[in-house]
Amino acid sequence: MTNGFSESAVSLVLEGLRRLEYRGYDSAGVATLDSRGLVVLKDVGYVDQVATRYRIGDMRGSVAMGHTRWATHGRVTQLNAHPHTDGSGRIAVVHNGIIENYLEIRADLSTQGVVFTSETDTEVIPHLLGRALASGCATLADAVRQVCPQLRGSYAFLALCMDDGGMMVGVRKDNPLVVGFGDSCVCLASDALAFAPYADTMVSLSDGEVVIVTPSSVRFTDLEGREVKEARVVVDCVWADTERNGHPHYMLKEILEQPLVLQKCNTLDDSTLIDTALEILGARQVVFTACGTSRHASLIGRYYFSKIARRFSDVVMASEFGYFSSSLNRQTVVIAVSQSGETADVLAGVKLAKQAGACVVSVVNRPSSMLAELSDHVIELGCGAEMGVAATKTFTCQLGVFYLLAHAMVNRLQRGRENVKAAGGCLEELLQQSNQRLAELARKLMGWEHLYYIGRGANFASAMEGALKMKEISYIHAEGMPAGELKHGTLALVEQGTPVVVICPNDETHAETISNAMEARARGAYIIGLSDVESPVYDHWIRIPAVAPLLYPVMVVVPLQLLAYHVAVARGCDPDKPRNLAKSVTVK
Ligand code: AGP
Repeated sequence: MTNGFSESAVSLVLEGLRRLEYRGYDSAGVATLDSRGLVVLKDVGYVDQVATRYRIGDMRGSVAMGHTRWATHGRVTQLNAHPHTDGSGRIAVVHNGIIENYLEIRADLSTQGVVFTSETDTEVIPHLLGRALASGCATLADAVRQVCPQLRGSYAFLALCMDDGGMMVGVRKDNPLVVGFGDSCVCLASDALAFAPYADTMVSLSDGEVVIVTPSSVRFTDLEGREVKEARVVVDCVWADTERNGHPHYMLKEILEQPLVLQKCNTLDDSTLIDTALEILGARQVVFTACGTSRHASLIGRYYFSKIARRFSDVVMASEFGYFSSSLNRQTVVIAVSQSGETADVLAGVKLAKQAGACVVSVVNRPSSMLAELSDHVIELGCGAEMGVAATKTFTCQLGVFYLLAHAMVNRLQRGRENVKAAGGCLEELLQQSNQRLAELARKLMGWEHLYYIGRGANFASAMEGALKMKEISYIHAEGMPAGELKHGTLALVEQGTPVVVICPNDETHAETISNAMEARARGAYIIGLSDVESPVYDHWIRIPAVAPLLYPVMVVVPLQLLAYHVAVARGCDPDKPRNLAKSVTVK
């Protein structure tokens, strides 16, 4: 969601929505105040599709708000798209999060005669605001402060009322909301990326804070109406770069950036890594928590800690983390890993960890994220904006960080840095060699319904990551697992020609992984081997440069990402905006 105060507020909002579209893209909408009053245009589709369909760019008004939706409550329909309005059509609201008690509120309002037009949880907000204004609140800001205590759940919402001369009010609880200040505009958004090119400074709202913006002022209050002083910080220019730079998709651009990202990772300062390493060494138990790709990176981090620093740790999927919270205490270090720093499951786990007195180390790509705010130590990935929904460069960078951390734990940071640097060079070579061949292989695989990925040791997580990339962007069913596990059930699904991707470095896992590949081939599998050494068991060999053995996952993930990318493109799927998904999953 975003809004601006300037003569070209609508175009500013549209531009912001395009920059935030990776967060959700099933529908989009805009509201503005013009000479006719409050005008709302919204529909199903991408921002540009909706904007063209309704000529949104032609809307005039010095205040506007917009939203791109990722459906939670209610199907993907025009009526469910935001902004939502009250019955009089005088108040518009855009909202991120979930109002958990919306059914109760809805039932209550319905008995009072309120007619709902959507199936969303959000729609209760404008109706409640309308009633608050009708029953005596002097301004929209007063109404927002009165309504918030009635809402259970999480929210960041903006409200615009045509009666208050273009006053816009924003408030947040457990969802991000930032305010950007530019030369000729004030922008409110869920992510600074929306306004990075236009704003020089910004404020991140805390839970329960309200921002009240009029054409002549910006004020911050708490829910009781007391003024709050906010410190402005400079908007980081790194986040302004959201261009594709000539690449057909963000995902390809971001895959190609990985050698650079590894070098960048090496610039993390010694003291950040050493302080965190000491914290980990001093703990009784160390637990990673993360979702999706960040969890796969954590699984590899766990191997690094064990192999390099002889330190046992565990990885708990963030959505399951809460169920283990009774075993957390002051001697626990929780390493929360998240590209966005906004993933609701991760944030929920971290809050529980803090309550138990644990120390929280976060590894994030967004330094101003809610996760960073909650953490005792923050390691910033510094990859710049990752716009493709499929995580690529941030995975590689997370691995680089864990590798360096493990070396810092045994006082061999310099050695770790040398290996990471060398891996960056090899990655460059691999990208150049393999892209074309992978595009050809993709054409062969694009018609298959099922793919399997296997590997041992740290590369079992590489296998899972390869499978995740394939299924999320190409919609082919793919499963990754430890190679030794295949014969315990999944092998039953292998038939003549079934593609099995085998990650097989020339290390301690080699001989046994080759045996597992042979078992699959004996049942008709088409074996795609990723290895630094050839084997007759491979029907197709992808040559991986030899690197320090533990950095193999950094190497193999790149061809796996490229393979998924080319299969998706060959099947006509948009790899940047896979169906049903969003980049930041801010709901549980
Ligand atoms: C990765 O390709 C996915 N889109 C997804 O699994 C993602 O990694 C997950 O949602 C976690 O996101 P985070 O790193 O921002 O917490």
